[in-house]
Amino acid sequence: MGYGGFHTGQTRLVMHMAAILTILIFSGTALAAAKPGKAATVAIPTAPELYSGEPQPLNPSHCGTCHPTVYRTVKDNGARHRFACQKCHNVPESHNPATVSGKAPKPKCASCHDRPHGQKVIMCTECHSLPHTPQKLSKKAPITKFCFECHGSVRDKLATFVSKHTKIPCITCHTSHGFKPSCFTCHKPHQQGQSLSTCLACHPAHMPRQVQYGKDLPSEACGSCHAKTFATWNKGLSKHKKVSCATCHKDRHRMIPDCISCHGKPHTPTHHNRFPRCLTCHIDVHDIPVMPPKLNQKEKPL
Ligand code: HEC
Ligand code: HEC
Ligand code: HEC
Ligand code: HEC
Ligand code: HEC
Ligand code: HEC
Ligand code: HEC
Ligand code: HEC
Ligand code: HEC
Ligand code: HEC
Ligand code: HEC
Ligand code: HEC
Repeated sequence: MGYGGFHTGQTRLVMHMAAILTILIFSGTALAAAKPGKAATVAIPTAPELYSGEPQPLNPSHCGTCHPTVYRTVKDNGARHRFACQKCHNVPESHNPATVSGKAPKPKCASCHDRPHGQKVIMCTECHSLPHTPQKLSKKAPITKFCFECHGSVRDKLATFVSKHTKIPCITCHTSHGFKPSCFTCHKPHQQGQSLSTCLACHPAHMPRQVQYGKDLPSEACGSCHAKTFATWNKGLSKHKKVSCATCHKDRHRMIPDCISCHGKPHTPTHHNRFPRCLTCHIDVHDIPVMPPKLNQKEKPL
């Protein structure tokens, strides 16, 4: 019985399948007849090469497809912050709908920086308010309060070498950060036509009374005050005319050179012992008489 039942059941199943197949075949034929050859409603060629690699981390330009303004900003003014955005941003959290729009966690400066300006300068964003443009200081940056924390050596110079500049507040001269004023804003040159660049050759800005200069300082710069000496030297015929003021009066104002430092002791020891002062005979260092009387060892000179 069971068998008969089975057979009957089997036959029925076969018939059902045949019927389904028939429907499928006919309907298939019908479909094929309606849209011959097309498997999709659009034409998109497969591009397996797009799947040849493993997924890579997004780079800044990828982020920039959706955040073009931030990308531009970092690109143009990010300075040394131009590294992968993800170093600062936790990307999954940034894109969690529950935390976006200002609530996404922001990186702390301290996670990468110590206190580069010393222990007292702490609130980084008071000055570097925009992490995408770290070099741009906030307009309200309270830097005047802190000049000394960062430029201690300048304060030391002003305090050690007291001058009238010591009492002038930093910002009277430095009207914005990094701006270096011209001496001519407040002073006239010693001589008409004297250029600004010469001022600093003699006066360090923060210790202007410590007049110091290099060997290459033009003698005219000394001549602006020592007109008489300059004229004597300039009109003279001696070989000292080839030696500039700054070569003899080396490094700092009012320094008096020793003849021996350049000439040694050219005459006999007895001679030098007897006449220790060279200018007794050579008279004027700025215009040495060209031919002093010939020295005769036996003669008493001059
Ligand atoms: C497919 C577009 C898309 C890409 C790619 C994308 N983002 Fe976003 N991102 C968004 C959207 C949309 C928001 C939410 C809206 C908003 O706040 O601007 C968002 C939000 C953010 C936020 C939070 C903003 C806030 O106000 O808190 C940060 C940070 C961020 N994205 C960084 C990145 C970084 C970094 C990358 C690259 C690694 C990146 N995104 C890639 C679309 C994108
Ligand atoms: C040095 C760390 C740092 C880097 C690098 C950085 N960000 Fe940011 N980003 C921040 C901080 C901090 C904030 C929050 C600023 C705020 O709250 O004013 C922020 C804010 C954002 C915001 C939301 C506010 C806005 O300005 O729209 C987006 C979006 C964003 N960053 C995307 C990026 C993308 C994209 C990159 C890379 C091209 C990037 N960031 C690189 C630190 C960084
Ligand atoms: C993911 C690490 C990271 C974070 C977070 C970070 N920085 Fe930086 N920052 C750096 C690195 C690295 C440099 C480059 C240092 C170098 O070259 O010596 C740098 C450089 C800078 C510079 C000098 C920029 C230049 O180009 O001259 C400033 C200013 C600065 N960071 C301020 C900040 C401030 C403010 C914050 C917090 C809002 C911050 N940074 C957060 C890593 C970071
Ligand atoms: C009172 C304002 C102020 C504060 C607060 C401040 N900075 Fe600065 N920072 C400056 C100034 C001004 C510069 C020099 C900018 C320039 O080159 O003109 C600077 C430069 C830097 C530089 C580049 C230095 C170099 O030698 O290249 C880094 C890095 C930096 N700051 C990080 C920080 C960090 C981190 C903090 C917080 C701990 C911080 N700053 C707090 C004003 C500030
Ligand atoms: C937070 C630290 C910081 C503060 C505060 C600060 N500076 Fe600076 N300053 C710097 C750094 C860093 C530089 C650039 C690096 C350098 O050249 O020493 C700089 C550069 C300068 C320069 C240009 C140096 C050059 O050789 O071109 C001047 C001028 C200057 N600062 C004056 C000031 C004055 C004036 C103040 C106070 C009103 C001040 N700074 C406050 C850190 C600071
Ligand atoms: C009388 C005007 C004047 C005053 C006051 C003054 N400075 Fe200057 N400072 C200058 C000039 C001019 C320069 C440019 C010097 C150069 O180019 O060698 C300069 C250069 C600097 C520099 C860069 C070169 C260096 O010597 O490090 C810093 C930093 C600086 N000043 C900080 C300060 C600070 C901080 C104060 C206050 C404590 C201050 N200055 C007061 C005129 C002044
Ligand atoms: C913002 C104005 C200002 C600037 C810029 C300035 N000075 Fe002065 N300087 C002064 C004032 C004010 C005095 C005091 C004048 C007085 O009392 O007669 C002074 C005094 C001096 C003195 C005499 C110092 C003393 O103690 O006797 C010298 C030298 C000097 N300045 C040189 C310079 C040089 C060089 C520069 C450029 C590097 C310069 N100054 C830039 C304002 C300025
Ligand atoms: C050759 C070096 C030299 C040069 C260059 C120079 N000075 Fe002087 N300056 C001096 C000497 C020296 C003094 C006087 C110091 C003394 O009395 O001991 C002086 C004094 C000053 C004084 C104090 C007031 C006065 O007139 O006695 C000011 C201000 C001054 N110079 C500004 C300037 C300026 C501005 C420049 C650039 C045009 C400049 N100096 C170029 C050497 C120089
Ligand atoms: C701004 C004017 C000025 C400039 C520029 C100047 N001097 Fe003087 N110099 C003086 C004054 C003022 C004295 C003091 C005169 C006195 O005491 O009779 C002096 C004195 C001297 C003395 C004498 C020191 C002594 O003990 O007798 C020498 C040397 C001297 N200057 C050399 C120079 C040289 C070299 C230069 C160029 C590098 C120079 N001076 C630039 C104003 C200047
Ligand atoms: C900075 C070095 C220097 C100093 C200091 C110096 N001289 Fe000279 N002197 C020279 C040079 C360079 C010549 C030229 C040598 C040559 O061309 O053979 C010279 C030449 C001379 C001559 C030869 C003069 C001529 O016109 O034929 C005499 C004399 C002389 N010096 C004496 C002195 C006396 C005296 C002193 C001190 C009061 C002195 N010198 C200081 C560098 C110096
Ligand atoms: C060869 C070296 C030498 C040269 C070059 C030289 N001097 Fe002298 N100068 C001296 C010596 C040495 C003295 C000291 C003379 C004395 O003891 O009587 C002196 C003294 C001075 C004095 C103070 C005494 C006086 O004569 O008023 C002044 C000012 C002076 N020199 C300025 C200048 C100037 C300005 C120049 C350039 C035009 C210059 N000197 C070039 C070596 C030199
Ligand atoms: C007693 C006088 C006298 C004294 C002091 C004296 N000289 Fe002379 N010096 C002379 C005479 C004279 C000549 C010329 C000799 C000649 O042409 O042979 C001369 C020549 C020189 C010459 C040029 C030498 C040459 O070969 O062209 C130099 C350099 C010189 N002296 C340097 C000095 C120095 C430096 C001192 C001090 C240490 C000094 N003199 C002291 C008298 C003196």
